[in-house]
Amino acid sequence: MIQVKIFDTTLRDGEQSPGCSMNLKEKLEVAKCLERLRVDVMEAGFPMASAGDFASVNEIARMVKECQVAALARCTSNDIDAAIQALEPAVAPRIHLFLATSPIHMQYKLRMTEEQVLERAKTMVAYARRRCPDVEFSCEDAMRSGLDFLIRMVQAVINAGAATINLPDTVGYATPWETEELFRQVRNNVVCGEDVVFSVHGHNDLGMAVANSLAGVRGGARQVECTINGLGERAGNASLEEVVMALKTRHDAMPFETKIDTTLIYRASQTVYNIIGQKAPMNKPIVGRNAFVHEAGVHQHGVMANKATYEIMTPESIGIRDNALMLGKHSGRHAFEEYLTELGYRLSPELIGQCFEQFKALCDRKKEINNADLRAIVTHNKVAERVDAHVGFELVRFVVYTSNFTSATSTVSLKKGREKMEEVSLGDGPVDAAFKAIDKIVKPKAHTFELYTINSISEGKDTMGDVMVKLKTEKHTYTGRGLSTDIIEASLLAYLSALNQLVQTEPN
Ligand code: KIV
Ligand code: ZN
Repeated sequence: MIQVKIFDTTLRDGEQSPGCSMNLKEKLEVAKCLERLRVDVMEAGFPMASAGDFASVNEIARMVKECQVAALARCTSNDIDAAIQALEPAVAPRIHLFLATSPIHMQYKLRMTEEQVLERAKTMVAYARRRCPDVEFSCEDAMRSGLDFLIRMVQAVINAGAATINLPDTVGYATPWETEELFRQVRNNVVCGEDVVFSVHGHNDLGMAVANSLAGVRGGARQVECTINGLGERAGNASLEEVVMALKTRHDAMPFETKIDTTLIYRASQTVYNIIGQKAPMNKPIVGRNAFVHEAGVHQHGVMANKATYEIMTPESIGIRDNALMLGKHSGRHAFEEYLTELGYRLSPELIGQCFEQFKALCDRKKEINNADLRAIVTHNKVAERVDAHVGFELVRFVVYTSNFTSATSTVSLKKGREKMEEVSLGDGPVDAAFKAIDKIVKPKAHTFELYTINSISEGKDTMGDVMVKLKTEKHTYTGRGLSTDIIEASLLAYLSALNQLVQTEPN
């Protein structure tokens, strides 16, 4: 069986795209999911990009034991030094260097000639190789590069010590047949040992990232670079779940294997969506709500007679369970804990306690609680930023009055320690009014809203609203989350959580 490595770049190429940024706790949570999923390599970030990126690569490198941890670096000694330092605690570190090889990038972005680019790449790969046992080199915009130059470049960096050669379709421009052919041509024209691995990295601008990744594998790539839910620059990267399930489901046509535990795919996908405050599009392959739903009468009829009539893979194979939740308001903590274990969660007793409390409160407000609700509760508690009690404001109660003919009014009561405070404000809608009342009490430093999203966790009008708020000051971004069947309450909880962090880090 031919093995294909899965190189996950959710925490680097995925995280750097708008609306997908994560804080340290969130990145660690995603890293844990990726490790359990059994990716071969996880790209943890770009240490030179910021102090935050450096710290998260460093923490991930310290935590992850079961797979390689990679850090991205441009071809400069400063970038390489930062990446090496961040990767220092990793069991199996990999440094990932990149330099553009297409005429348009070399001329306008790098302002370098082919010879200069070649020289820089050789020197920096050798520099990195002396400091790290495993070096990957990416020829940025490889798919729009001249073939002869690309071959010279690949040969040069292999000679300098790169063990993985990535040929990215940086702008999502290639077709599957061009991708397959490019990999064939480059592989046939360079001299290298069996241990050199070729890697494919697709972007989805024309909707071909997954097809191109599979075509790259047909052309000889033995590593696919991808992200959970296809997150990534512009239209995204190749989605991990689609690549892996395509290889598994069409094994007859593509005799390749990955190490991924596919039964953890759904959970990983939901965790990432919960963390970035987004929801899968309904028709998203593999993990969208409709991916396994048969609506048309003929389809339902066929599926009832034999599932395989319209189902090419099973929901169970990616870890979707349709069993009804056996928990309710009378369930005890022990049963709750067991159910979470069945869903694949192993939580500390403290976290179980927090989740259980929230679950009980939810039982009083919502008729039917399902797995999606439980997953949301767990993710929220895992990534919630907790703030010291003496600086933290807590929501006591709120009232909003809203109509379609006057301004909304809100009264909000908060407490900090034993002190209770209450304020009233008008606003442009109930959320605005309530946030303004909170501002009057908290008096935070000037900030802007980078993000305010509301998602419903499941179906039905009593579904929980999942609110995410990102506040930006001159120095930092703070993420707050709120989960409640009342979307105003969820919004207030999210806003307060972000404000508490802001006040703690940047007191007035
Ligand atoms: O798309 C791209 O070219 C990249 C490289 C840094 C590998 O993400
Ligand atoms: Zn990319």
